[in-house]
Amino acid sequence: MITSTFSAFRPAFCAALLGSLLSAPAIAGAPETRNASIERGEYLARIAGCNDCHTAGYPETAGNIPREQWLTGMNVGFQGPWGTTYPANLRLYFADMDEEQWLARARAPMMPPMPWFALRDMNDEDLLALYHFVRSLGPAGDPVPVAVAPDQPVSTPYIEFFPKNLPLQAATP
Ligand code: HEC
Repeated sequence: MITSTFSAFRPAFCAALLGSLLSAPAIAGAPETRNASIERGEYLARIAGCNDCHTAGYPETAGNIPREQWLTGMNVGFQGPWGTTYPANLRLYFADMDEEQWLARARAPMMPPMPWFALRDMNDEDLLALYHFVRSLGPAGDPVPVAVAPDQPVSTPYIEFFPKNLPLQAATP
């Protein structure tokens, strides 16, 4: 059973490996049906916590949300000293972006609480795997609200991220 599953998987794996030896970035221009990359992208989305913030209901259900609803963004804002931000709808976001644009964007800072440094530290293959996985799901959902500057009124629900009870010297600007 294990052997036959592995054999079925091996051609796609070998193609991905060969691609990574022959070209950089590894899957540039590859058809989006490249299963190994898409599966890797799904795995990364799960373990890197992208759904925690970008998929409504995911943390509350311990991840029991159909993939069709994944990464469509959140209308509940995160409010902190940076203002109020909304986890982007990645299904729409990636639909409008090519691989090179994504690799460049993924390495540049993003607003809190987006852990952008996790993307910065991913290699190109993993970033592209995420990209191909999300694109394989297709565009869905609506754009999230625009970020709101600090001290401006917010009309959506939001979650507060203000530090409390910090030691005195850390709390003083
Ligand atoms: C702790 C919550 C959180 C987690 C976890 C998270 N994000 Fe985000 N993400 C956000 C928020 C909030 C924004 C909106 C930031 C803004 O308004 O600029 C965002 C924005 C983004 C953007 C859009 C940036 C832009 O150009 O405007 C991308 C792409 C993104 N996230 C990808 C990911 C991926 C991929 C993962 C998993 C590795 C992930 N995020 C995990 C909260 C999160």
